[in-house]
Amino acid sequence: MTRKFPFSKDISLAFKNDPPGQWLLALPEGCIRLSSGYPEPVLVPAEAIKSATIRLLDEEQDLPLQYIGSPRIPQLKEAIRQRMAKRGVELMDEELLVTSGACQAIDLISRVLLDDKAVVALESPTYMEALEVFRNYTEHFMNIPVDAKGMDTDRFAEMLANRKREGLTLPRIFYTIPTSQNPTGTTLTPERREHLLVLAEEFDFLILEDDAYGELAFAEAPKLLKAMDGGNNRVIHIGSLSKVVAPGMRIGWVAGGAELVSTLGWFKKDLNHPFAQSVMASFLEATDFDAHLASLTNAYRAKSMAMLQALEQFMPPSVTWYAPEGGYFMWLQLPGIDTADMLPQALAAGVSYVPGKHFHLDQEHCEYLRLSFSYADAEAIVEGVRKLAEVVGANLPQDEPQGE
Ligand SMILES: Cc1ncc(COP(=O)(O)O)c(C=O)c1O
Repeated sequence: MTRKFPFSKDISLAFKNDPPGQWLLALPEGCIRLSSGYPEPVLVPAEAIKSATIRLLDEEQDLPLQYIGSPRIPQLKEAIRQRMAKRGVELMDEELLVTSGACQAIDLISRVLLDDKAVVALESPTYMEALEVFRNYTEHFMNIPVDAKGMDTDRFAEMLANRKREGLTLPRIFYTIPTSQNPTGTTLTPERREHLLVLAEEFDFLILEDDAYGELAFAEAPKLLKAMDGGNNRVIHIGSLSKVVAPGMRIGWVAGGAELVSTLGWFKKDLNHPFAQSVMASFLEATDFDAHLASLTNAYRAKSMAMLQALEQFMPPSVTWYAPEGGYFMWLQLPGIDTADMLPQALAAGVSYVPGKHFHLDQEHCEYLRLSFSYADAEAIVEGVRKLAEVVGANLPQDEPQGE
């Protein structure tokens, strides 16, 4: 498409890509949503948020509706600092920026750290919206494979050493979702975390730790990379309350060095979203958050088990997956099947998923797909997997005939 409007030259890089959101599906009525990475409706604390809103407005009247008024805005920051401290990361006030979701954090960080020469190292597969953000700023990437133990740090080490030997640019940042990864559901082991930090030091790159699902680990999660960083600010941590409270509130944050955080603040021109932030603070002050997290984790663990059992019961033997260790997702490999081609049949059968190609930059990974156990209830999950297994069965490649 030729564009006549006088956009800046930097924008031309973004226009080389497909428009954002290609992975978002138009779902037929009644379709079982195994594609959506949303919380289950009954797990969104709507009543508690309603009470928090009423209490807030009763107590503060117009303040949360003004540009800067509510005393609960600093209170939210304090609540986030306390949660981070509980997880081994002590932060000064100037080391924390509350953002409009983790997505804004990824974008702001890209804006201040990347340019069109920068190389970004990524897990492959990874969160598709992060891919969309990074591709707006650069076209240079390193794709690091993920296995059952998270990103393969040995492979990463080899790739970095090769680049160095060949005189190629080394990555400026490595973006990772180390705990309950989107889309694989895997968690980076403590040994690989140590190895990653050693590599970051040796090859001098920053680690962007996206912890969107970190508090939804089914067993005790390994230490945060940020907590293992020894305070030397190689790790920039991104948090979010979308998956554990409500995505529509748009509350996320960046924890990093004061210099980085103040620079991000220069470019964060959408103010503090006083209403959302003060409602969230009001919700948190009335909530036992540890108990809230424990009940969420129990619910998502049970739903993941329902999905796992249904997969074992219904899927053909050639289909494989990782047992999820937390979060919202499972990642399936379907040898010989192009999951993007198969999608219309699945939708017609009444079940949705996201084709694997959207989680990779090269879009060549056709035989994978992501299932979400977060949004549908357990009964619908089982029914959705059963329907999907039928579609998969009908798409299995026929064995090549032997000989003539
Ligand atoms: C890995 C990851 N990071 C960030 C986000 C988005 O978080 P937020 O709603 O806070 O922007 C998501 C949502 O799907 C995600 O999967």
